[in-house]
Amino acid sequence: MGKITRAVIPAAGLGTRLLPATKSQPKEMIPVGNKPVIQYVVEEAAEAGIKQILIITGSKKRSIEDHFDSDNELNTLLMEKNQKELHAQINFMEIKYEEVQIFYTRQKKPLGLGHAIYLARDFIGDEDFVVLLGDTIILSEQDNNYVKRLMNFHEEKKAVATIGVEKVAPSEVERYGIIEPEKIGGLSCIIKNVVEKPKKELAPSNYAINGRYVFNKKIFDELKNLKSGYGGEIQLTDAVQGLINKERGKIWGLSLKKDELRYDIGNFLSYSCAFFDFCIRNDEIKTEFQKHVKEALKKFSN
Ligand code: G1P
Repeated sequence: MGKITRAVIPAAGLGTRLLPATKSQPKEMIPVGNKPVIQYVVEEAAEAGIKQILIITGSKKRSIEDHFDSDNELNTLLMEKNQKELHAQINFMEIKYEEVQIFYTRQKKPLGLGHAIYLARDFIGDEDFVVLLGDTIILSEQDNNYVKRLMNFHEEKKAVATIGVEKVAPSEVERYGIIEPEKIGGLSCIIKNVVEKPKKELAPSNYAINGRYVFNKKIFDELKNLKSGYGGEIQLTDAVQGLINKERGKIWGLSLKKDELRYDIGNFLSYSCAFFDFCIRNDEIKTEFQKHVKEALKKFSN
């Protein structure tokens, strides 16, 4: 197994759960604090040592490309005004992650996450690779990057797939891919089965797939002829089940640690919570922001 250097970030979803905000802008470009969601995701991959990233976009997603490009007009303006810090912030790719290349391809029809990942097959070739969902942020300490942990674990176990999981409330299982774990040991387990968005009473556990995966290229064989599943879409979770059926014992789950936080920017409530958490911890604004929150709670809560 070679070193993992490539990642795929699917960002083609229509963002219907965040309408009207996402009518003409990608949900991945919605700001959380002072950065768009997808910048956190790209930084997470880059911090894990990923060198080539394929972002799967779709129509109306062009602003994602612009965000990772350099803007010469803005650069000149900021330098003229001596705003060096801002200049450095908008040139984060060139300054911090110079060796990371970003590629793009479009999913032409909204056929599902599994279909989007299948578009990456030629880009990936024979290497194992990482998938980071473009609408999920995972915060971990810099020297303890969660994706890096997934990659290390995957290599150590010689796994065929290693899937990020997290315990969720029973009322939330219907929103996620849910695993049936066996041999739970500390943060890891072997995955026995997976099911996409099960009804609460049919869920095999409350361990949800959290939006971070490491795969062997065999996942593409499963995706190749996959029929549509939940919601009429081609589901990555169904391809994982196919892998499990053929490679029993080699599909692992790895949980987040207690201090690692996942933000799903998929709906209005989870988005609002994420925005709040990023502001309340931001060094630049936190004193004033916390003061505002206290006052707002007094004023608006009933
Ligand atoms: C997708 C996956 C699901 C996973 C979830 C994590 O669902 O299909 O298995 O648990 O992401 O956020 P989506 O949120 O795109 O409906």
